Amino acid sequence: MPRHVGIIMDGNGRWAEMRGLPRLEGHREGSTSVREVTRCARRLGVGALTLYAFSAQNWARPAEEVAGLMELLRDYLESEREEILENGIRLNAIGEVERLPRYVREPLEKLRAESAGNEGMVLTLALSYGGREELVEAARRVAEAACRGELTPARLDAKGFESFLWTHELPALDLVIRTSGEARISNFLLWQMAYAELCFSDVLWPDFRTEAFLRCLAQYQQRERRFGLTSAQVKREDSQRAKA
Ligand code: IPE
Ligand code: IPE
Ligand code: MG
Repeated sequence: MPRHVGIIMDGNGRWAEMRGLPRLEGHREGSTSVREVTRCARRLGVGALTLYAFSAQNWARPAEEVAGLMELLRDYLESEREEILENGIRLNAIGEVERLPRYVREPLEKLRAESAGNEGMVLTLALSYGGREELVEAARRVAEAACRGELTPARLDAKGFESFLWTHELPALDLVIRTSGEARISNFLLWQMAYAELCFSDVLWPDFRTEAFLRCLAQYQQRERRFGLTSAQVKREDSQRAKA
């Protein structure tokens, strides 16, 4: 089972347009997929689930759609509160959260605080998130720390750099799923994706439920993760681990 799964939840607009509905109806139906996939991940013992809900670039969509998405987000935080708390889920957020309207930020911070002690699964919402934005912010904080004399640039390594990312407390990303048939990353978790397995599903997000999620997990389990080693080395390591 992957320890950390990230999902690029795409295809809400097309789902609605195919039915002659306003795009927002697709986003609304997508909330049900969020609930189902979260439940399934929790039940299967996935340690961390990160959902790309709104990108830094999505602010450029029509104002009406952005406002509708923000209202849905607020409704989600309200309606899922009980389920999150009852199931030992810790809610977390990454991204330029300060750009969100107050009516989203407040329930988000409240639920984040209320669920802070939960240890079942960490559910991270990527909101106003961009991978490049995260890296630039990290670079800025590294430079500031260096100016204050708190770190020596020559000693900075990948592990040290990682501690400046918004995801610093999450486990390594194992699997990234993108729905809706698009084969691109769209600025999601760029650094963290380095050795993640990628799964592209043709299913549109509002139709992406337990079954589709299980299919992606099954694909993941078929993969051999080599991290630069040869297959023989990986097999040897696996059998040594099994014996230990
Ligand atoms: C994903 O669905 C949700 C967000 C990006 C907020 P889209 O709204 O991108 O759906 P399509 O890609 O237009 O179908
Ligand atoms: C990626 O989807 C962002 C989210 C799922 C929140 P987009 O629909 O915004 O990505 P592009 O524009 O197709 O690359
Ligand atoms: Mg899209």
